[in-house]
Amino acid sequence: MALTSLPRDVTIPVNPTHGDLNMALLHVSTHPLVRHKIALLRDTRTDPKKFRELVREIAILLCYEATADLALEESSVTTPMGQAVGHRLREQIGLVPVLRAGLGMVEGIWEMMPAAEVWHIGLFRDERTLKPIEYYRKLPVSPTVDVCLILDPMLATGGSASATAKILKDWGAKRIKYVGIIAAPEGVKKLSTDHPDVPMHVGAVDDHLNDIGFIVPGLGDAGDRQFGTA
Ligand code: PRP
Repeated sequence: MALTSLPRDVTIPVNPTHGDLNMALLHVSTHPLVRHKIALLRDTRTDPKKFRELVREIAILLCYEATADLALEESSVTTPMGQAVGHRLREQIGLVPVLRAGLGMVEGIWEMMPAAEVWHIGLFRDERTLKPIEYYRKLPVSPTVDVCLILDPMLATGGSASATAKILKDWGAKRIKYVGIIAAPEGVKKLSTDHPDVPMHVGAVDDHLNDIGFIVPGLGDAGDRQFGTA
């Protein structure tokens, strides 16, 4: 029998009880492929190899939506039959994965935008305070990109994404977007409060954070599930 609607327990695009989220900044994908793949990603039976494939694929789909407003310039192109009006990206893109879990989002997106620069930020959450601790930062002295895409699958408390946006702003980045797979309402609120100029493109907004800072229902630890370190 064909499904005409999503199973109730599969995807939570936007929980209706989260009406106080800043929807001007928050873009939750409604694409059927994203929903389908996120359900597989959440599944405890998904092994690290499949998990990595899904992170890569979902990242491409979310990036497609997050880059819909990139600026273009016209350029003439010679075809075998004559001249055509073409377009090329006018802006230089920077992909900024937050280690570790953000690494899995890079490759697929990079294939779509091979001229993008990739700059790494390393953060981990202190298990007790849930505050982000920076351990790695690889950025040139001054910005070399026009648009930064922060890549991190999970927006839990929002501390890591907010800290990354601050690092990029202190560096001089003018335009920043966050691309993530699953967000908690708490993280959406923190990032939109701390950085009201940073749009968020996510695959789903879940119900809540539990008392140890995990997104519920979420998918567990995205870093551990990718790298087989659970
Ligand atoms: C996870 C995740 C985010 C962060 C989200 O990383 O990948 O970076 O937590 O939590 P927050 O919104 O509360 O800051 P983690 O600290 O587990 O490190 P890892 O990616 O190396 O596993």
